[in-house]
Formats: sequence, structure tokens, C-alpha cells
Amino acid sequence: MNRVQLRFLSQADNVGLARLMAAGLAGQGNFTLPDIEEIKVAVSEAVSNAIIHGYDNRPDGWVEVVMELDAQGLTVVVEDWGVGIEDVAQAREPAFSDDPERLGLGFVFMESFMHGLEVASTFGKGTRVRMRRLITEISHDAQ
Ligand SMILES: Nc1ncnc2c1ncn2[C@@H]1O[C@H](COP(=O)(O)OP(=O)(O)OP(=O)(O)O)[C@@H](O)[C@H]1O
Ligand SMILES: [Mg+2]
Repeated sequence: MNRVQLRFLSQADNVGLARLMAAGLAGQGNFTLPDIEEIKVAVSEAVSNAIIHGYDNRPDGWVEVVMELDAQGLTVVVEDWGVGIEDVAQAREPAFSDDPERLGLGFVFMESFMHGLEVASTFGKGTRVRMRRLITEISHDAQ
């Protein structure tokens, strides 16, 4: 088991740091390169949401990413202390966005690339997204 934690200010440049950390930790596990690419996308979407929506693009909010690797998979928690989400079920609907310029696909990517997604949010207090990606065993006996 391994665990890492990264806390950074809500600035777009820091999305890359979170992606690097995810790739590095996932690389210690039995994930394939395509698996790792998908994990990076899911982490980017959650961190971007924290910056863009949680802090409304203000550069001075804290975002925290905690990742835990175990024999079965990788758990990622992304947290912000920003505006929060009033209606989580609505926010998670495909193509829902509070911004007409955006596609509203961030949660869709997280859902499809990870094996579990939980969104906990308190309006006015912040948001915590927890997602888990399992290591899928590849059978080397398969023809
Ligand atoms: N951390 C957050 N804090 C506050 N609101 C959030 C947060 N994450 C998501 N939301 C809300 O949920 C909505 C849906 O998020 P989602 O990532 O699916 O789409 P989007 O960010 O609007 O568009 P896209 O991700 O395609 O650019 C957002 O428009 C926003 O209203
Ligand atoms: Mg988004």
C-alpha cells in the first residue's frame, strides 16, 4: 500500500502536477499504459472542476488530491473548499453544465474511466470527489 497527498493553489498550471502524481503512483501498480491515460483524464477533470467551478477561477483556493494505491487498485480523492454543488444529481447528468460554453462531460469521463465515483458536496462549503480504478487482471493464458 502507498499513499500520496498533494495540496496546491487553484491555478490551471497545477492540473499537470496532479496528472503527473497520478501517473507516477499508478505506474507503481499493475496498470497498463492505456489505464494510466484514463486515470489521468479522470484526475484532470476533477481537479479542473475544483479550479473552474469550485473557486470560479480564483487563483488562491486550496485543492487537495490524495491517492492511495493497493493491490486491487487506485483510489483518488479530490477536494476543494469552494462554492459547493447545490444539486449533485443534476450536476452529474451528462451534458449538464452551469456554463453554456462547456460540454458538461467532466463527470461523464470520470464515471466511464473509473470503477466508482462518489461526489459529496455542501453548498457554500466545498466538494469532495472520490473515485477508484481497479486493476484488471489480464489472463496470459487467453488465446
Ligand atoms: N468542484 C466543484 N465545485 C462546484 N461545482 C462543481 C464542481 N464540480 C462540478 N461542478 C458543477 O457540476 C457541473 C458539471 O460538471 P462537469 O465536469 O460534468 O461539466 P463542466 O465542468 O461544466 O464541463 P466540462 O467538464 O465538459 O468542461 C459543473 O458545470 C458545475 O456546475
Ligand atoms: Mg468539468
